Amino acid sequence: MSETLTKLAYRTMQQGKSLVGLAHKEASTRLMGLLAPDGTPKTEPLPAELLEQLRQSMERLIELDWQEAEQGLYPTSLLFDAPWLDWARRYPLLWLDLPLTWRRRQERNVRDLPRDVNREAFPDYYLQNFHHQTDGYLSDHSAALYDLGVEILFNGSAEPMRRRILRPLRRGLEAFAQRPASSVRVLDVATGTGRTLRQLRGALPHAQLVGLDLSSAYLRQANRWLSQLSGELPQLVQGNGEAMPFADGCFQAVSCVFLLHELPAQARQNVINDAFRLLEPGGVLVLADSVQLQDSPEFRLVMDNFRRIFHEPYYRDYLSDSIEARLEQAGFGAVAAESHFMTRIWTARKPL
Ligand SMILES: C[S@@+](CC[C@H](N)C(=O)[O-])C[C@H]1O[C@@H](n2cnc3c(N)ncnc32)[C@H](O)[C@@H]1O
Repeated sequence: MSETLTKLAYRTMQQGKSLVGLAHKEASTRLMGLLAPDGTPKTEPLPAELLEQLRQSMERLIELDWQEAEQGLYPTSLLFDAPWLDWARRYPLLWLDLPLTWRRRQERNVRDLPRDVNREAFPDYYLQNFHHQTDGYLSDHSAALYDLGVEILFNGSAEPMRRRILRPLRRGLEAFAQRPASSVRVLDVATGTGRTLRQLRGALPHAQLVGLDLSSAYLRQANRWLSQLSGELPQLVQGNGEAMPFADGCFQAVSCVFLLHELPAQARQNVINDAFRLLEPGGVLVLADSVQLQDSPEFRLVMDNFRRIFHEPYYRDYLSDSIEARLEQAGFGAVAAESHFMTRIWTARKPL
């Protein structure tokens, strides 16, 4: 396929995903209004001007995603990497799950978790139904629906947003360019179902990749997605990002995507501190999470609506938290940040 055709195919696919996301949200909101009106969240309507700003911001994200693939930061095939058949099979399950989500919202029940969960094994803040999702993060059912749910939530832009960590991460790893690529170790904290590890594998085909998460169910799903890839299988480890089971200085890069907004402030600091401990001097940390009020005030309504619709108990606090200050407090230097659509990316280096 020629370059122009591939680009056209990518843009068309993204537009299709965006339309499906919007249509799903519209249909499910209407259905909830009919069947569970008490549970309908009180959201603010988005003015046309803001919708246009969002559209343009997403366009820029997709254009950048294409350009960075063209520049060779990651293979163009990664842009099309989506488990379509799998998602098609799981889509009806999302609908079947919706009434449970509504009921939890109606009853303000945010601690509705599987009975057999060993509560001692997890921090208290984790034992909740984030996004009102069935079983929280603690079942195979939840892990099976997670990726599709996120794709729909972000109108198909979740993967392009995750990929924004790749350029700063690769640039940070240039400090270790004299080493064999296969000796470079990269950790993805709160790897969930491993979508970020898939992107990392595309950009760093020879590096040793490790993913850590508190949920063994999500790690099982990650193992399913990752074992389809050729090359070394990333190592998956169950653990708490606040105190990870690895030796000091044993990674050259650490990434962490969409975790910080789900943590209370002290846990946020603990994760950043522990990433600092795990990095070799000169190593790079790249964080990705929601944009915040200070850097993207124009999207305040979208952020407000997000926390009204989904159970996100720490999001309000996160929105005005200074991640830059937290990175510096942990000892990091060369702190930089940039925003892409609804995602903020922070890069920081452990001093030599
Ligand atoms: C919103 S999901 C993001 C997952 C993944 N990074 C992504 O991009 O899709 C949050 C993840 O963080 C994990 N998590 C939450 N608190 C954690 C902690 N203290 N330590 C490790 N993982 C944690 C959850 O199990 C879940 O997989």
